Amino acid sequence: MAESLVVSGTSKKEKYESLLPQIHALVAGEPDFIANISNIISALKFGMDFFWVGVYFVSPAINPAKEELVLGPFQGPVACTRIGFGKGVCGASWEQQQTIIVEDVKQFPGHIACSSLSRSEIVLPAFDKNEKVMLVLDVDSEQLATFDETDKFYLEQVMMIISKCAGQ
Ligand code: SME
Repeated sequence: MAESLVVSGTSKKEKYESLLPQIHALVAGEPDFIANISNIISALKFGMDFFWVGVYFVSPAINPAKEELVLGPFQGPVACTRIGFGKGVCGASWEQQQTIIVEDVKQFPGHIACSSLSRSEIVLPAFDKNEKVMLVLDVDSEQLATFDETDKFYLEQVMMIISKCAGQ
């Protein structure tokens, strides 16, 4: 169960390898999407010791003719609630429908600084059955250049688990 989450290994790869089967086990047999995504976010936060990790859902905007990203389950300091299409790293990942790794947020035009402590980040989209982006996962670090192809590889597997949990 959740309280017995233990991540072994010292390298990033070893930690992800140890964590992924536990994430699978956490959500197995549970149909509630928000419960599952909340536990996945907590497993990532405490398993990988991330500074901030959370999702933004593609949702109706306050003007419902449009869509925007709206904050969902997260772990870490309070964050901005809404992000427009193409805005910041999250909105860019949604627009480009691909993972974006930012080594230095100060070098990313339009980066949205929810916390002044955040210095690098990775954002990954999850897709529905129609290949439409349904949410993005954002992970922030207090250090420069924290995220690389190893994070992309393993976090994209987490995105597939999230899509499955959503019934996609
Ligand atoms: N930095 C993100 C905004 C979300 S917060 O960092 C949690 C961005 O530029 O989209």
